[in-house]
Amino acid sequence: MSVVAVYPGSFDPITNGHTSILKSGLVAFERIVVAVLHNPRKQALFSVEERIELIRESVAEMGAEPGRVEVDTFDGLLVDYCKRKGARIILRGLRAVADFEYELQMANMNRHLNEDVETVFIMADDAYFYVSSNLIKEAAKLGGDVKALVPGPVAAKLSAKLGR
Ligand code: PNS
Repeated sequence: MSVVAVYPGSFDPITNGHTSILKSGLVAFERIVVAVLHNPRKQALFSVEERIELIRESVAEMGAEPGRVEVDTFDGLLVDYCKRKGARIILRGLRAVADFEYELQMANMNRHLNEDVETVFIMADDAYFYVSSNLIKEAAKLGGDVKALVPGPVAAKLSAKLGR
């Protein structure tokens, strides 16, 4: 039986931390649906369409086997989306201890909402333990060099977006 996992997030933009989780996730799961939350209330640097395109390009750069990674968008409850996709696993990455409390709350809420869906955590590669989309955006906006921390297509798009 092929195990499908949903890897949800804002991905504004996808970072090397995210791709490291995805690579590890592909060791454990047959198929992964990377699901970008469509949240009109949250201000984002990249539109949902841009984020999806950047994830697709980054997955291609990773060299993932065709058909094993799908990129999609969702709104509403994550557990309802998982059900629609036939997935019983939510994949989330963990970095430092600081992530733990938020992730524990979300995992417990999701379990309360649908006990058939399990959250599975994968530790981020230690090289990217301090990498987050927010810090990447902040550093890039202030002229910092973040090329080594994001996939190639993201580095190019960040420079273009920020006019550097
Ligand atoms: O990358 P992020 O911003 O940490 O991802 C957060 C995300 C998208 C996983 C979370 O906000 C989410 O699942 N939102 C969907 C709404 C939902 O299901 N909420 C109830 C569970 S906490």
